[in-house]
Amino acid sequence: MENKKKYKIGYTCGVFDLFHVGHLNLLENCKKQCETLIVGVCTDEYVIKIKNKTPIFSQEERCRIIEALDVVDSAKIVDIEEVNDKQLAQKIFKFDVLFSGDDWKGTERYVETEKQFAKIDVSIEYLPYTQGISTTLIKNSLNKTQD
Ligand code: CTP
Repeated sequence: MENKKKYKIGYTCGVFDLFHVGHLNLLENCKKQCETLIVGVCTDEYVIKIKNKTPIFSQEERCRIIEALDVVDSAKIVDIEEVNDKQLAQKIFKFDVLFSGDDWKGTERYVETEKQFAKIDVSIEYLPYTQGISTTLIKNSLNKTQD
């Protein structure tokens, strides 16, 4: 029965700070397409150095929240190298599909990754971003209400 899913092992990664319904939509959509969903949770170092933001919840807290979800089979903290190099992530997690936000579709980096993945029969599925909610919007609205 479980085998009706399009893919066996799916993988996605993100910061997932201040967990919200946009995150949930994404993860539910991932799980609809794969039997096992592995989620990479970016380190605090990644958020600070690459996104130039300070996470509210620590990497361990963010990872625990993600792993507690029914739609997630396994959550792992992933460092900068693993986040930036999807081929390295594939070697580690052995996924047959990578899920990414549709804002990445057509970018040089993803076009190249698609080519490399095609050689080893790994797919990329682009999922829609939920409009109107983000960690940044939540932080901004909290800042306003404190005025
Ligand atoms: N995501 C989504 N819809 C949203 C927010 C996030 O589909 N409204 C997806 C992103 O595309 C990504 C994953 O959730 O695949 C983790 O995103 P993250 O950057 O942690 O969330 P944001 O809320 O967008 O954070 P920020 O505002 O700091 O960019």
